[in-house]
Order: sequence, then structure tokens, then C-alpha cells
Amino acid sequence: QAPIRIGVAGLGNVGATLVRILQKDGAELTRKLGRNLEVVAVAARSRSRDRGIDISGLAWFDDPVALAKWDGIDLFVELIGGEDGPAFAAVKAALEIGRPVVTANKALLAKHGVTLARMAEESGAQLGFEAAVAGGIPVIKTLREGLGSARIAKVFGIMNGTCNYILTRMGNEGITFADCLKDAQALGYAEADPTFDVEGFDTAHKLSILATLCFGYEIAPDKIRVEGISRITQHDIKVAAELGYKIKLLGIAERTSDGIEQRVHPTFVPKGSAVAGVDGVMNAVALETDHVHELLLAGPGAGGPPTASSVLSDILDIARGTRVPPLGVPSDELLPYRDAPDRAH
Ligand code: HSE
Repeated sequence: QAPIRIGVAGLGNVGATLVRILQKDGAELTRKLGRNLEVVAVAARSRSRDRGIDISGLAWFDDPVALAKWDGIDLFVELIGGEDGPAFAAVKAALEIGRPVVTANKALLAKHGVTLARMAEESGAQLGFEAAVAGGIPVIKTLREGLGSARIAKVFGIMNGTCNYILTRMGNEGITFADCLKDAQALGYAEADPTFDVEGFDTAHKLSILATLCFGYEIAPDKIRVEGISRITQHDIKVAAELGYKIKLLGIAERTSDGIEQRVHPTFVPKGSAVAGVDGVMNAVALETDHVHELLLAGPGAGGPPTASSVLSDILDIARGTRVPPLGVPSDELLPYRDAPDRAH
């Protein structure tokens, strides 16, 4: 069979890791798939930056939209980031011509996910976004394919690795918030603007995507009451510990009698609970359904290798011809979002 020619836009931590994996493990992936996967073109801001990968043999594009439309590729991977701008323009350009897209961009999906899903539906293109929520954990796949007809009552969890890393180290080592954040940035976990992490917006983006998949309604990050962790002090963590709790930043969406409620806030979780045991850069997503009382998916939530491996799993699905509906929803039977109460915890 003909090779799958991949174009990657954005060569930050995740993009460079993806290219490295594809170049290093290409032969093994080809064996598994029975088809060659080749990165043939890239787009990024700087051509000369040292990323530890060899891009000399690849076609180079300054403009990601031109790459998305280029007829030398079969699949477009968007790892630029940002809710509008070049990421949105490039993903739209690819979907418009029916070209499959894989993205890790939660901010983009939170804002334009339904528009993009509808475009994908119209043009018959696949849109993969496993890497957009909870890094290396296959949560999107589980929701789309793994739960059958189960009716989901609640989804909640730790969806930002940076915040969980900060809270864990503040608790274990007594290090200041600012120092922990610096380390998270140096390790490549944090967003380009870390305010998105520590003020809870990144968690809200991911929660809004999960809520849409779980409950079948338009993505509505603006309907989420958001409070981040930037005001959490050592004193808060100590008091929580004395009372038998840990503080975790949770995203929570649940079905209530008058609509779907979504919120993001630091939460006291009992020390013996499964979520409390998820420390460091790990994420965990808990699903409560009518069949399975609580299913917990936990794993690495941020960083180059886990996120790139989720991008790769979408690429493999598309290469195998696995078809899933672009977003699974929205349905016509709309559920309202209700305003979260002021203090829910
Ligand atoms: N900044 C994000 C996090 C990256 O820390 O979880 C993964 O989405």
C-alpha cells in the first residue's frame, strides 16, 4: 500500500517528540500497520532552532495553512496551539478539502470544536484529538468506543499535569508555588502562557471537551465556574493534611436534575481516595455511569512523550481506516448547562 505522508505544523516539545518517534520507530510501525508512515513536511516558526531532530530532508513551510493544503501530504497534524490564529486557519483548511487532521489543541477545540466537527462531518475527514485531553491517557477513545451504551452521570478528575505537579511538590517538599511552576516550565509541562495552567483555564478547556462527549451538548467553556491554584498556600495544604485531605485541582461535570453543571476548582479529596493517590505530573479521569459505578483512568498527563504517543495513536487509527464520528455529538435533544453554585466545595 502507498505510504501515509504526514505534515506536522508546530515543532515545540510535542511536535519534535512526534517527529523523533516517527523517524526512530518508523520501521516497527510499518510492520504493525502494513503501511509506511512518513513525516514528509513540517511548518514551524524557526527553521534553524536545534530541536534534536533531523528535518533537513523534509519539505519546509513557513505557513501552516499552506502545509495543511499541500497535496504532498495525506494527513495533517496540528501542534501549534492557541484557540484562533494559524492553528484554527490550518485545521479548517485541511478539513475543508477532506484531509484528516490530528490535533492536541484543547484551547482550539474548546472554542471551535463543534464547528470543526461539523466541517469534518461534511467533508468526510477524520478529526483526531486524543492528545487534547489528559496527555497519554486514552480517555477520548474510552468515551467514544469503550463505554457502549452506558449513560454517564458524572465525569471528574485531575486534568492539568502542571497544577498536579505543583500541588504535589508543595505538599511533599514544602517548595514554594513559584519554584514549582518554574520547574514545571523547565520540564516542558506548562503551557506557553502558564496562567492557563495555574488559573484553571486549561482544565476548563479539557473539561468542556469531555462534557460534550459525555453529555451531548455544545462545548461551553464559558459556562464553567473556574478557580485556579495560584492562591493556594503551604498553610492550606497543611490544614488539609491535618484534616486527612489532599488539595487537588479538579474539573467536574455532572448531570443534575436541571442541567449539566461544570466547574473547576481546588478541592479537598480524602487521602485514601483513588484521585488523592494520583501525584506528580499524572492526570486521572473518573467516569460514573449507570453500569460501571466509577471507572478511573490514570496516567501521564503532560509532556512530550505521552502527548506525542496519543497523537500517534490517532494517526495509527486513521491509517488503519478506523472511523469514528468527529465529536459523537451534539445531539438534537439538548440539555441545558446550569450555573454552578458559588461555593460547591
Ligand atoms: N499544560 C498542560 C498540563 C499540558 O500541564 O497538563 C497538557 O495538556
